Amino acid sequence: MSGIDTDCITLTRYVLAEQKKHPQATGDLTQLLTALLTAVKAVSSAVRKAGIASLYGISGTANTSGDEQKKLDVIANDLFINMLKSSFSTCLLVSEENDNVIQVETEKQSDGLTFVSDKGKYIVCFDPLDGSSNIDCLVSIGSIFGIYRKTTEGPPTVKDALQPGRNTVAAGYALYGSATMVVLSVGNGVQGFMLDPAIGEFILTEKNIKIKPRGKIYSLNEGYEQYWDEATKEYVKSKKFPESGKPYGGRYIGSMVADVHRTLMYGGIFMYPATTQSPKGKLRLLYECNPMAYVMEQAGGKASTGTSPILDLQPTEIHQRSPIFLGSKEDVEDVEAVYKKHAK
Ligand code: AHM
Ligand code: MG
Repeated sequence: MSGIDTDCITLTRYVLAEQKKHPQATGDLTQLLTALLTAVKAVSSAVRKAGIASLYGISGTANTSGDEQKKLDVIANDLFINMLKSSFSTCLLVSEENDNVIQVETEKQSDGLTFVSDKGKYIVCFDPLDGSSNIDCLVSIGSIFGIYRKTTEGPPTVKDALQPGRNTVAAGYALYGSATMVVLSVGNGVQGFMLDPAIGEFILTEKNIKIKPRGKIYSLNEGYEQYWDEATKEYVKSKKFPESGKPYGGRYIGSMVADVHRTLMYGGIFMYPATTQSPKGKLRLLYECNPMAYVMEQAGGKASTGTSPILDLQPTEIHQRSPIFLGSKEDVEDVEAVYKKHAK
């Protein structure tokens, strides 16, 4: 036996097979995901050789040829935007790195070829490189994305991006950890694909991921305890000093993708609650909370603001924040029960 799987399921193969289940599908989503994966592979490569390629540090430093050197998150953003724009499948992009929505327009190149089109029907919200405080110390970081269909006629506007997470067509994340993994849901469960750098393909390694109904780990930035509301304080205390049984373990990386991925694989709860300093929490609804909430629900878990499902929130601004509690169903329900008690 060579140990080589000669019939492995790549991410593209998986998406194509899903597409075939819908005879009316045009293949645009497959095209979009292929472009997005090219960006993820390039980001992964940049992350892995970042130290050697002097990509760290403040952008604005000049390299030997006098060009401005780009920080890793700027490179990741450029890669996502350029790959998605040229996929002929998107009309509107929302990036954490850009103040405004990016409208994908038709551009004629000098040789007469059209490289981007305004005909795409998908809207992509993404955080190209999340966990920026962990970049310079080699701790895991990730990319997050949520994909929506444009539901209105006419040119795309910011309103088209303000859809509740319930409308998600596909969402997922890439984790640049000890290996690079893409976790994806196209509305039919959650699949995990490991990047095989030797062939540059994502291979299905975690099939139909389901989160445990209850875990043993809680995850949040405990340094902010004095800023938490009473419900969060009471809930976390109940995990540390349970009336019976052992306390939960605490784990916090400070990279949402890594903390959420651990929660998905091992069970438990990840939290970024409201604080007195950030009354709406820190994490952004469109490209951090919603995609992760969608993946969690598809894996049998839950994602809540404490009082309502994240996916039901109607966004009003592209960069709005939301408190978030997500993970194992019973663990999230415990938090909701404490919030309900405090609301009385
Ligand atoms: P970023 O988009 O600036 O990287 O911030 C998002 C990150 C998340 O990955 C993580 O969950 C959170 O910020 C950590 O914040 P804190 O340092 O306040 O605990
Ligand atoms: Mg972020």
